[in-house]
Amino acid sequence: MKISAVIFDLDGVIVSTDEYHYQAWKQISDQENIYFDRAINERLRGVSRMESLDIILSHSDKVYSESEKYLLAQRKNDIYCELLNKLSPNDILPGIINLLISLKARDIKIAIGSSSKNTPFILDQIGLATNFDAIADGNSIKNSKPDSEVFLLAAEFLGVQPEECVVIEDAQAGIDAAKAAGMKAVGIGSAAKCFNADMKLNDISNLDIDHLLEVNEIRS
Ligand code: BG6
Ligand code: MG
Repeated sequence: MKISAVIFDLDGVIVSTDEYHYQAWKQISDQENIYFDRAINERLRGVSRMESLDIILSHSDKVYSESEKYLLAQRKNDIYCELLNKLSPNDILPGIINLLISLKARDIKIAIGSSSKNTPFILDQIGLATNFDAIADGNSIKNSKPDSEVFLLAAEFLGVQPEECVVIEDAQAGIDAAKAAGMKAVGIGSAAKCFNADMKLNDISNLDIDHLLEVNEIRS
C-alpha cells in the first residue's frame, strides 16, 4: 500500500528536548537524594511523565505515595517548562523543515504523535503550531508508547489507514508503538539500533524522501 501520511514523534525528532528533561529530572533526583544519570535519562525516551518518574523512583528505597508522586511530577514539569521557555525556531533539528516542505509538496499528510503533554507549548515555541494536519499527544491518550494508541489516533485524525502511515521515531518505545499500530517505522538517532525499525538512520538530515515513501517495498 502507498504511504499517504508521515507521523512524527516530537521530542528527539522535531526538536531535541532531552537535555531539558535531563536537567529537570536531575534537580528533582538531587533534591530527593536519588541516583540519576544520563544512562537512566535515555530510558525515559518516549515514556510518559508518570512512567518516567516510576523509573527514577525505582532507584530509591523510599516508598512514595500517589499524591507525593503527583507533586514530584508537577515540580519536575515546572522546572522543565521554565527551560522550554528558551526554545525557539532555531532549535528545530536539521532536515525537518525541508522534509515537511517536501511532504506537503507531494500531498503527503503530516501529523505529530507524541507522549508529551507539553506538545502544544513546544510546537508554539518553535513556530510549528499550525503546520501539521493532525496532532495526537499526551493530552489525548490513556496509554503511552509502546502502546499503539497515540499513532492510531493520529491516523484517525488524518482519516487514513494505519498501513498507509510511516512513523519517524527516536525511541524503542515509539518504534514498538508504530509496529503495534501496523505502521512502518523509521528509527533515527538512538532508535537506529532498534531491531524492528523498517529503516534506520543516524541523522534525519540524511533522509531521502523518495527512499522514505518506498519504505513499504523495503520490508513488508
Ligand atoms: C516524550 C519524551 O516525548 O514525552 C519523554 O520522550 C517524556 O522523555 C514524555 O517523559 C512526556 O513528556 P511531558 O512533556 O508530558 O512531561
Ligand atoms: Mg522521542
